[in-house]
Amino acid sequence: MISSEQIFNTLVLPYLNHAVRTYESGYASVTDIDAAMRFGCGYPKGPLTTVDELGVAAVRDLLAARYADTGDNLHRPAELLEKMATDGRTFADEAAAAGQAPAPEFKQDIARVGVVGTGTMASGIVQVFAQAGYDVVFVGRSQEKLDGVYGYITKNLDRAIAKGRGTEDEKANLLGRLTGSTEREALGDVDIVVEAIAEDLEVKLELFGDLDRIAKPGAILATTTSSLPVTKLGEATGRPESVIGMHFFNPAPVMKLVEVITTDATAEDVAETTRALTANVGKIAVSAGDRSGFIVNLLLFPYLNDAIKLHETGVEMTVIDAAVKETAGFPMGPFELLDVVGNDVSLAIQKELHGEFGEPGFAPAATLEAKVAAGELGRKTGKGFHDYS
Ligand code: 3HC
Repeated sequence: MISSEQIFNTLVLPYLNHAVRTYESGYASVTDIDAAMRFGCGYPKGPLTTVDELGVAAVRDLLAARYADTGDNLHRPAELLEKMATDGRTFADEAAAAGQAPAPEFKQDIARVGVVGTGTMASGIVQVFAQAGYDVVFVGRSQEKLDGVYGYITKNLDRAIAKGRGTEDEKANLLGRLTGSTEREALGDVDIVVEAIAEDLEVKLELFGDLDRIAKPGAILATTTSSLPVTKLGEATGRPESVIGMHFFNPAPVMKLVEVITTDATAEDVAETTRALTANVGKIAVSAGDRSGFIVNLLLFPYLNDAIKLHETGVEMTVIDAAVKETAGFPMGPFELLDVVGNDVSLAIQKELHGEFGEPGFAPAATLEAKVAAGELGRKTGKGFHDYS
């Protein structure tokens, strides 16, 4: 019988190592890496704070032991761990040395927001902006899909009212700020468009070309893609300087994080305005470059994939879910979260990461492929790793 501690060492230690390597590579700051996992996934602490708490040298030793067992490059302790252990430095020291970034300011007015899409992410994003007082125009392919967005938001607001945290008047005001349309032309006078449609490059390229035609000059064109290159979407427009990533997390009304993704072409004023807007809707912005997985998915999905591989060795899913929640304090176990995210989405992200980084350890678990092939995608189909029927 595997212990909770062994499960922690198998799943959480490589995640910590990976977070260290992400910092070591200069991709993101200590503060942003920790904030990303706390506010994107609801973790009680960021990974680098966890390394500090366990002790840099202790984490290095645990990883070295694991690496000796598996020979997997992902378990080889990051060089920075070695260096920091020798120097007696902590990640808190690194964060303090980097200092605090100044609060972002609006460089252009944002009053009206457009959202394209009517799925779970789009619905949540519409709610987030309307809740913060913005007028929101959202575009979908049919009246039925638009009604679905109203239905999603109404359900959430009714739940809040039932819990005594909102009134019917507030709900009516919020819904009054929404305008649904089946015509993209309705986006002609918004100050920013956030795209949250299907995760398909061709489909998004067509949309960005069209948004370039429709949106007024200077309007920011944002995408909430989790795995496609923002740079390519910018290139589909005549205004790549106005194109940026705003990666929200599921469920968007609850998760506090937005990863703000800039490309080489994104104007600094556009990036700062997007960060200011993120703060204005009550979310935390972290900055990341246009690379597969950004911060959160890069750290989260290999861990989820490892959990599936551990299950393939015969360990029960419920045992893994419970052990991770107990030892690391994560709000959901890996199989519970996979079912929320959707196995199709998880597989697509894992394939992107495998392709971008070429780590053999990132190869999608066979069971994940099988679940997708069988149409067992998670909560949305009633069955995924767990059964919801
Ligand atoms: N929509 C709106 N509100 C929701 C919601 C939803 N779908 N689900 C839950 N909530 C609200 C509840 O109303 C409740 O609000 P309250 O505290 O104000 O009353 C609050 O969230 C907490 O909900 P519950 O008490 O029902 O349940 P939990 O305490 O278990 O919290 C959770 C639910 C916030 C989802 C928590 O389990 C969590 O943080 N899970 C981790 C989710 C995660 O990791 N997301 C990231 C996935 S990766 C991703 O999105 C990237 C993409 O590219 C794939």
